[in-house]
Amino acid sequence: MATQVERETETSEAQIAVHWREEEYIHPSPKFIGQANASDPAIFERFSEKNFPECFKEYADLLSWDQYWHTTLDTSNAPFWKWFVGGKLNASYNCVDRHLAKDRNKAAIIWVPEPEAEDTQAITYQELYRRVNEFAALLQDFCGLKAGDRVTLHMPMVPELPVTMLACARLGVIHSEVFGGFSGAACGDRAADSGSEVLITMDAYYRSGELIDHKIKADEAVTVSSEKGNEIKKVLVWQRYPGKSSSPTPMVPDRDVFVNELLNTYRGKIVPPVSMPAEAPLFLMYTSGTTARPKGCQHSTGGYLSYVAGTSKYYQDIHPEDTYWCMADIGWITGHSYIVYGPLALGATTVMYEGVPTYPDAGRAWRIAERLNVNIFHTAPTTIRMLRKVGPDEPKKYNYHFKHMTTVGEPIEPGVWEWYYNVVGKGEAAIVDTWWQTENGGFLGSTLPALQPMKPGSCGPGVLGINPVILDEEGNVVEAGSGRAGNICIRNPWPGIFQTVYGQPERFVEIYYAKYNKNKDSKDWHDWPYFAGDGALQAADGYFRILGRVDDVINVAGHRLGTKELESACLTIEEVAEAAAVPVMDEVRGRAVEMYVALKPGNKPSKEIEEKVGESIERLIGKVARPKAVWVVADMPKTRSGKIMRRVIASISNFTDVGDITTLANPDIVDTIRHQVQAEKVSRGQQPRELSPTELEEIKRFGQAE
Ligand code: WTA
Repeated sequence: MATQVERETETSEAQIAVHWREEEYIHPSPKFIGQANASDPAIFERFSEKNFPECFKEYADLLSWDQYWHTTLDTSNAPFWKWFVGGKLNASYNCVDRHLAKDRNKAAIIWVPEPEAEDTQAITYQELYRRVNEFAALLQDFCGLKAGDRVTLHMPMVPELPVTMLACARLGVIHSEVFGGFSGAACGDRAADSGSEVLITMDAYYRSGELIDHKIKADEAVTVSSEKGNEIKKVLVWQRYPGKSSSPTPMVPDRDVFVNELLNTYRGKIVPPVSMPAEAPLFLMYTSGTTARPKGCQHSTGGYLSYVAGTSKYYQDIHPEDTYWCMADIGWITGHSYIVYGPLALGATTVMYEGVPTYPDAGRAWRIAERLNVNIFHTAPTTIRMLRKVGPDEPKKYNYHFKHMTTVGEPIEPGVWEWYYNVVGKGEAAIVDTWWQTENGGFLGSTLPALQPMKPGSCGPGVLGINPVILDEEGNVVEAGSGRAGNICIRNPWPGIFQTVYGQPERFVEIYYAKYNKNKDSKDWHDWPYFAGDGALQAADGYFRILGRVDDVINVAGHRLGTKELESACLTIEEVAEAAAVPVMDEVRGRAVEMYVALKPGNKPSKEIEEKVGESIERLIGKVARPKAVWVVADMPKTRSGKIMRRVIASISNFTDVGDITTLANPDIVDTIRHQVQAEKVSRGQQPRELSPTELEEIKRFGQAE
């Protein structure tokens, strides 16, 4: 029997079809095609399903193996796939050592500090080799770290971050970098989850012209980690200005050390790369999900590195002579795969920028591109929207030429895409809109830039060797061109897929595979479609349009924030009885968070409580999660079983129709909240524009995943 909610969903899917305007194809220039790494359509045949899984040998062969693998894909413990079994390699060797023979003096990393008066640093492969070896020696001898140990990194966008990652990889130590903008508490939480005894951080870094104290977060991380039963024994502190402390936070004796001082002892030390099994974990990357506990996505050495090398070559079109700039943060999976591991595995030059793209003015990004002669550029829709807002004509003033550009992390509106193409790319660059996730290691949906035309707003078809399908709630295939939306899944495993949720293998199976698996004992990969957690629509030409998350995750400026994480941060406030987080459309960030809270009896709404909510979220998660508005309401709309109807409050926040509320236990509260919230928003001038059909759909669907 179809419930009311299901019927509503069906209608709106049909509506999408009606309103759905297919954008025209845009073809890459002959100049781009002429030089592309993948320009022969025979590549599609090589990666076709009939050649699965052996097709991925082409990616693995981009690496140097100490020992070749005997089994490309082992499915015996499905869905815990094993790739390139029997193979051995070292990721640090592949990203550094092997390039020395030919490219010793080529720039591996070009680092641009935020203050424009500070010199750009070009770090050659030789210099990177030195730094990685010396720091690996320190990790090994001073910290006693060895293969399999976990280490938490909480570092900003400085070259010491890739040096640290590669030094860990050299020893087989599993790094877990927490985004520098996250709070000390969030870092401590993740350190405890991974059982890290060492925390590596930086004293300070620049953000919008301010030298921010970052060391202070390490102290909180240690405290929070210890509360969760995990002692961090050592805190290694890199210095933003070596030899000079840039943080007022004192060092804790016997626990904290300045890396720069200690490194003198290791000058010139060489540490042989540890030959690791392909299946050994390379790193963890935490991401939000439907519960308050973040998920440590565990990525492998051989499969992951092969996948990012292959996709960097064909989809980023990186050639040895290119200057490639991905303006993401390494604390995000994009930075791991497409600033560090992919480009360096290919021996390319990768640019890193410390600060805010619009600091000190709207032309900064384009000045960097001009000065360094960047020809491949990679960023997220939220950044593109911001750059357009502050400087719609700035790119024209600078003499740079991109051959290729990427967008990643959120759906991009066709209008924003067009500005990116015409103004940033000057109509010359091929664009790839890459859809993927922290869990995936690398791209899942994109056009192959020289061989498949672009279509604004659609990521494109599945990438080489990836076979996506849209399934409805019952597991039936939703046909391409049907105009109906559903859950996008990947039918087959691939080398970049994460191995497990660290320490929670049951959650790995439950979240990503249980939904569509009919036989849990099956060892046949066909029985295990990967559930991505995104809603999507497939056009008749096979291109996908990603609609956004179907779980309770809000994508704010490309950061995945779990509603449960936000809500549990609010519930630490004494006066708060209930909390609900909902997304609201935001011109620049895509989505922003609004928090609704109801108070315990005896408490009155006040500005102080609203402040406390914002502060506790910032303290427990980070500034990125700070809500745009906090609404203290008399009660939450609830079902008769007591479940908060997030869809209803999300509709109020977005000025859309609240839909059917007759099944609520307290339908009267809806009007009360609507008056309170919408009147205040109108007085603040925050009434949003009319929403598109897909945005309406997202709001209607919100909170239904539970
Ligand atoms: C969304 C980022 C539309 C999606 C690499 C996904 C996108 C989540 C795109 C993963 C895109 C990512 N178009 N939506 N090109 N790329 N998403 O883990 O909802 O930070 O599930 O990985 O971002 O975010 P994550």
